[in-house]
Amino acid sequence: MTEPSAPGVRKAVIPVAGLGTRFLPATKAVPKEMLPVVDTPAIEYIVAEAVRAGADDVVMVTGRSKEAIADHFDRHIELESALEAKGDTHRAEKVARSSRYEVHFVRQGKPHGLGHAVLCARSHVGDEPFAVLLGDDMIDERDHLLEQMMAVQAERGGSVVALMEVPPDQVDRYGCAEVGSDTASGADVVTVTGMVEKPDPAEAPSNLAVIGRYVLHPRIFEELDSTPPGRGGEIQLTDALLALATGSGPGSGVTGVVFRGRRYDTGDRLDYLKAVVQLGSEHPELGADFSAWLREFVSSADGPAS
Ligand code: G1P
Repeated sequence: MTEPSAPGVRKAVIPVAGLGTRFLPATKAVPKEMLPVVDTPAIEYIVAEAVRAGADDVVMVTGRSKEAIADHFDRHIELESALEAKGDTHRAEKVARSSRYEVHFVRQGKPHGLGHAVLCARSHVGDEPFAVLLGDDMIDERDHLLEQMMAVQAERGGSVVALMEVPPDQVDRYGCAEVGSDTASGADVVTVTGMVEKPDPAEAPSNLAVIGRYVLHPRIFEELDSTPPGRGGEIQLTDALLALATGSGPGSGVTGVVFRGRRYDTGDRLDYLKAVVQLGSEHPELGADFSAWLREFVSSADGPAS
């Protein structure tokens, strides 16, 4: 396999087959990716982020009961026509917006884990570096994390993971990275020498957690193909990345980009509420009124004035 040299990452893989149990009962009949952050489903923010970074060929790895996601990225001609007939071009445009993205779907079939989900996109991606975005992690659009990761991948080759410092007692929620001793403390670009999925905090190699953005060399597919089930009996992307971090030859090597910007874990109820408040208070139509209400709300011990 040749080392891809073209800097542009054109393809993005977004796994969306997860059950969303943390949001039950809301996610009993609605995919968690469709929960709105203000007025836009979380998944549309993720697709917009990939496209902004240049990965405008998106493949979602989906599963049962996720048809609403495909519908959201399709045209809804009746709705658009009805809005246009009423002269509401603003809303008609919002409805049409998501259908302009190039979104493909492959089915995961059996939920065998994140590594297996990425492997399901192999024939769509082919032999080029690609991005993976996890739908639970929203990165503020003012922080250009994915673009930075793509630039690092173009320069260093191999694969790139996004890392974030987390409180040491929370590393067991994430993949955790061991970074090279050559890496200066406080550096933003670090060499990853080891990775472990959801370690016991007492045994974690660092407090650098893998967050849901990756730029992967296509050699990851070969590794995933031979990766045995790991933590939770699932094929873990972390385990295949460990093999690349410690292996040699074309496509080996893993670099970490340490992110210090704004991230919301919209798969977590508290962080989801924070994302809604943050983006609601900055919303072009609602922001001023919502912020004024919010100030009143926090300054009043008895809650908001009606
Ligand atoms: C997945 C990955 C984990 C990573 C996390 C980021 O875990 O397996 O390595 O740190 O996403 O959100 P999950 O949250 O799917 O359990």
